[in-house]
Amino acid sequence: MCGIVGYIGKRDAATVLLNGLKRLEYRGYDSAGIAVLNGALSVIKQKGSVGALERAVADSSGLLKGGTIGIGHTRWATHGDPSDRNAHPHLNAAGDIALIHNGIIENHTALRQELSSQGYTFLSDTDTEVLVHLIDRIWNEERHLTLEGVVRRALHYIEGAYGICVISSREPETLIVARMGSPLVLGIGEQEYFIASDAAPIIEYTKKVIYLADGEMAVMNREGFAVKTDKNEEAEKNVTELDFKLEEIEKGGFEHFMLKEIFEQPSVMQDVMRGRIHLEDNTLHLGGVKDHLEKLRKAKRIIICACGTSWHAGLIGEYLIEEFARIPVEVDYASEFRYRTPIISPDDVVMVISQSGETADTLAALRMAKEKGALVMGICNVVGSTIARETTCGMYTHAGPEIGVASTKAFTAQVIVLYMLALALSIGRTIKDEEIALYLKELSEAPQKAASIIAQHADIRAIAKVYKDARNFLYLGRGFNFPVALEGALKLKEISYIHAEGYPAAEMKHGPIALIDKDMPVIFIATRDSTYTKILSNIEEVRTRKGKIIAIATEGDQEISNLADHVIYIPYAAAPVTPLLTVIPLQLLSYYIATERGCNVDRPRNLAKSVTVE
Ligand code: F6R
Repeated sequence: MCGIVGYIGKRDAATVLLNGLKRLEYRGYDSAGIAVLNGALSVIKQKGSVGALERAVADSSGLLKGGTIGIGHTRWATHGDPSDRNAHPHLNAAGDIALIHNGIIENHTALRQELSSQGYTFLSDTDTEVLVHLIDRIWNEERHLTLEGVVRRALHYIEGAYGICVISSREPETLIVARMGSPLVLGIGEQEYFIASDAAPIIEYTKKVIYLADGEMAVMNREGFAVKTDKNEEAEKNVTELDFKLEEIEKGGFEHFMLKEIFEQPSVMQDVMRGRIHLEDNTLHLGGVKDHLEKLRKAKRIIICACGTSWHAGLIGEYLIEEFARIPVEVDYASEFRYRTPIISPDDVVMVISQSGETADTLAALRMAKEKGALVMGICNVVGSTIARETTCGMYTHAGPEIGVASTKAFTAQVIVLYMLALALSIGRTIKDEEIALYLKELSEAPQKAASIIAQHADIRAIAKVYKDARNFLYLGRGFNFPVALEGALKLKEISYIHAEGYPAAEMKHGPIALIDKDMPVIFIATRDSTYTKILSNIEEVRTRKGKIIAIATEGDQEISNLADHVIYIPYAAAPVTPLLTVIPLQLLSYYIATERGCNVDRPRNLAKSVTVE
């Protein structure tokens, strides 16, 4: 989710690039950098915000002055901590080629080994750096090639996703960009061209844009530009007229970041799995924990500590790890764990889950567990965050920056990480090979199923309109979907300020049933699994008391439509995968109820995105 900008024209490139980076900062904000061609190839890059980069440029005694071609990047770390050396642009050893990249180069380890053995020295921990050395190697071998030709050749070696911009002082009048999986927009001005990850940095200069497709490359110089296909043929492109407001573009055309992040989930799901799941041989490659898998497998107990939504993901993790790997799991609120006197031994694994990687209670729980000798593992979204740094091993969720205060895509990414981990812990031990194959296949189908649920957003919005004035909500689910009931209730509370409670469905008759009357909407997660018939009985109990029933059910289930006031259908999935799908209608329902009530969903009152205080 990094942000890319490029410019070629008559203006001061550094100014255009800095403006553009500010517009893209929501895409990533751990480091930023700029390279311009002004006789030499001049670069300023560093850890920190675009504001800090701007100050560095101002303090550089005009290092970037006079350049009218350049590239700029704002980073959201995926490989390598946020640091000066990992900030983009990356350069070859001679310092005459500069490259910025958004995406993930999956085969970077093999390429890094190959290039290192040929004498290339790596100055960063990023996957990106392999590409600039590859370009350098090919150009040194084939000096007759143009920058375009070398970049094209180098991209043949790359597996994964990329949006790249490249400039070189060896060919100082050319700007090259290429796309595979990471968006790029080309802005057409009067004898000037702009490139960016989205239209936000471009709109103040021109409204005429071209959206590059996967496999396409654009070559720009001061006279014009050409877009070529992967077969090096001229691509036919339509020029589109932008008619957005700037703020809308930053949110990708969505009214709120939260909605954008809900809609992003199918592609986030793919990003989490990318390079980790190999369906061709039914294996999992979990780089961040591979050296500790044996210890994790032999753990006497796994204790999961987290807060809020991450704690809910942890509860699903408990069900998954116990089901697949048969290792006992306990899930604790980090804030409780740290203040009681938990029994922790060196045979235990303490797993902390945190989107931000900065939550004070979770961090304190991790430090306490570490002191007591447990192996501490982290699941974080923000690369290089304190929790990510202090854990012994871990996995990143790769969900990209989550701006909306209410967590959505980070939750589904956490659940996928836990699912993959649970399977990795069970391979060769507790479940059969054919079951592994089945569960991997089921997981790999989740993104497409999630997309089909998101496509029902208008129907979900209609349900939201009916219940927007309710004062209370009850969310009920069982098994893997009990934590989803908790998560659904939390989402509604935090953004709409309606009181909501989540319960295991069977617990209803031990108390909450007293609340049911005609004014109480009850959301049932009632997918087809081993507890389905029990849930139907719970639905009957609510119906008898005139409660309003909204059911999340499996496609094709007609029976439930006779009982419920509203049914939201999700495609069939194996029970352990269902939380990834059932949570989506609940996120959307909360979102639409909150917006119908006029609430500020991206910044709900009293809440902060990262709770760094106790
Ligand atoms: C709810 C939400 C919070 C966070 C909690 C933990 O939507 O976002 O409940 O889940 O504050 O935050 P992280 O995961 O950053 O540790």
